[in-house]
Amino acid sequence: MRQETKCIEAGYTPKNGESRMIPIVQSTTFKYDTSEDMAKLFDLEASGYFYTRLQNPTNDYVAAKIAALEGGTAAMLTSSGQAASFFSVFNIANAGDHVIASSTIYGGTFNLFNVTMRKMGIDFTFVSPDCTDEELEAAFKPNTKLVFGETIANPALKIFDIERFANVAHKHGVPLIIDNTFATPINCRPFEWGADIVIHSTTKYLDGHDATVGGCIVDSGKFDWMAHKDKFPGLTTPDESYHGITYAEKFGNEGAFITKCTAQLMRDLGSIQAPMNAYLLNLGIESLAVRVERHCSNALKVAKYLESHEKVSWVNYPGLESSENYELAQKYMKNGTCGVVSFGIKGGREKAEEFMKNLKLAMIATHVADAHTCVLHPASSTHRQLTDEELIKGGVAPDLIRFSVGIENVDDIIEDIEQALDKI
Ligand SMILES: Cc1ncc(COP(=O)(O)O)c(C=O)c1O
Repeated sequence: MRQETKCIEAGYTPKNGESRMIPIVQSTTFKYDTSEDMAKLFDLEASGYFYTRLQNPTNDYVAAKIAALEGGTAAMLTSSGQAASFFSVFNIANAGDHVIASSTIYGGTFNLFNVTMRKMGIDFTFVSPDCTDEELEAAFKPNTKLVFGETIANPALKIFDIERFANVAHKHGVPLIIDNTFATPINCRPFEWGADIVIHSTTKYLDGHDATVGGCIVDSGKFDWMAHKDKFPGLTTPDESYHGITYAEKFGNEGAFITKCTAQLMRDLGSIQAPMNAYLLNLGIESLAVRVERHCSNALKVAKYLESHEKVSWVNYPGLESSENYELAQKYMKNGTCGVVSFGIKGGREKAEEFMKNLKLAMIATHVADAHTCVLHPASSTHRQLTDEELIKGGVAPDLIRFSVGIENVDDIIEDIEQALDKI
């Protein structure tokens, strides 16, 4: 199936007489005839459901659809994108370990790594996505367990050179984890460029309608854990909390990562997505391919309009030929990048705020990447916990306006920008 078809058909195939839409299994628990039946599930000897804190059929249908879209072998939904980032890293990096991450990742992920996960004893080195191979090599330590980057950085809109980072990560025997939220599998499939694990904030384009907060982790099934046995003992040695199962042996490269993440982290931390939310997420994904195409064509028109406006000091959109990211965007995302455009207005921060107040259609919201056009000044909102130095290092200029172009008629969006600029 092609991507457009997978958006509709993948993940769930009803049998004769079953519901056409995925069923919402709104149940905390599942019934079994004997204790032995249930014991087999607890021992991971049989597959099935016993408690929705770990797994639920509705979630699994949707996770299977996202796995198909990404070209992965296994996937799980989480309660948020933050939970997906945390689980994906914590599944293989523990206290005493080290992680390399791109310095331009989303501010919430940066804070999760740089503050909260440091408190858990995990060390992080942030490298510029523009760093040289030598600088990247120099960031590795004997205890480095993974490299983490974002296909299109939010809000810096920096394109991550997935292939280059994957090659270096693999040379050091560690996987590359990619946050593919902004590109979506419609525009980029990181596994085709060497990434090993993909995560999403499904809250964004995948849901696409401001309806549900959620996340997803997808495994490519390609990373050979046993070939790096000493680096990943959690996957390659017996798990005493699960009757001595060795995940990489029992579930192979295809299933080890997600099974461990479910059996250990979801069991202990319980950041599961509600089945009702998974159902709504599935509705969003059904129209993902058409929506993403429209987001991208609208955004390109808005970016070109802004570029030609005398009151606009700079525009950053990876789809613009003038963008320093254009070449990488063409390499990884030939059909389009995303619907988010960032720009600055002459007069800086003050004028940016005035402009935003003047907008009538575009609403001020922390959200991004959904059907409605919305706008944000990250330095005074989502990224306010970062110092100016961290902001600039993360590619977020203090005057940056993040404009998330929706799927309304683009002429209405441009007219709104025009009247707001006219007033300043
Ligand atoms: C690229 C990216 N990754 C992760 C997240 C975190 O996702 P969530 O808000 O669903 O927890 C966000 C949220 O804005 C994001 O933009």
